[in-house]
Amino acid sequence: MWIRMKSWWNETIIDRPYRRGHMAGQYQITEVLGMGSYGIAYLATHIPTSKQVVLKQVKPSLRHTPKGEAMQAYEKKVLTSLSHPQIPRCLDSFTYRQDSFMVMTYIKGPTLEDMLFDQNIVADEYTCAQWMRQIGELVAYLHDRHLIHRDVRIPNVIWKEDKPYLIDFGLARFIGDKPTYTADTLDAYPSEKQLKREVAPSSDLYALGHFFLFLLYTGYEPELDAPEKSWEEELTMPPIIRVMIRRLLQMDVPYDSVQEWLNELDTYLSQAQEKRAGNP
Ligand SMILES: Nc1ncnc2c1ncn2[C@@H]1O[C@H](COP(=O)(O)OP(=O)(O)O)[C@@H](O)[C@H]1O
Ligand SMILES: [Mg+2]
Repeated sequence: MWIRMKSWWNETIIDRPYRRGHMAGQYQITEVLGMGSYGIAYLATHIPTSKQVVLKQVKPSLRHTPKGEAMQAYEKKVLTSLSHPQIPRCLDSFTYRQDSFMVMTYIKGPTLEDMLFDQNIVADEYTCAQWMRQIGELVAYLHDRHLIHRDVRIPNVIWKEDKPYLIDFGLARFIGDKPTYTADTLDAYPSEKQLKREVAPSSDLYALGHFFLFLLYTGYEPELDAPEKSWEEELTMPPIIRVMIRRLLQMDVPYDSVQEWLNELDTYLSQAQEKRAGNP
């Protein structure tokens, strides 16, 4: 009961976000974009330059706790170490009243979650594979730098001008780094979560398998009242893609690296392209 009361208190009173129009330092808040595990994300305007930016604030209930401050400091370290046109850049950080804020570039566009669920966009399997290729390249860029994202999901990919942008580095970790706070060890996670949270390429590959399935499910119409079946029974797809997803999800021999999977995806894409060229 106490825990429930405390979480209600935190959610409704302590963690109430700043309102539209509020000035935090040189930034004027425009809207709340999301509330995650450690922070609140806002769209804001940097008044001196009129530039739109994203602010990420440590939740007030986590102020001065090892979790909140350490997670933000680590996300900042990660973003500062990267330089890729399809990944936000960390522009600044500051303290306003007692709140820590990180400032990053704003990527204007819908997330893949918005596209699939609000805009009901349906993608054929060739398009899904092309999107996965672009997203896979971003993940390969991170792995080349020994960084594991650990949260590659559709709400964390923004689509802009025909390109995916990978955001939300709140759970990202460099291979070999110690956890940022004590609860962030693998023993703290039940087993499916362990697969997703291990600081190794396998966790991002596993997430990419689910990601691929999400995209492939866009055109799926469930039969009314039919019992739920497995994805292999519900979806029709070429065997090469089915095998790929089974390997990503570690149901068959897993890939050693994102690059190994991307090579296989390229084989599918060139075969499919030839087929499309042959049968216009
Ligand atoms: N750089 C950015 N550009 C545009 N929108 C962003 C950016 N960063 C975050 N967002 C938006 O804010 C939401 C929450 O931010 P995110 O970093 O994913 O944190 P969390 O999921 O932990 O709340 C995202 O789903 C996205 O809609
Ligand atoms: Mg997120």
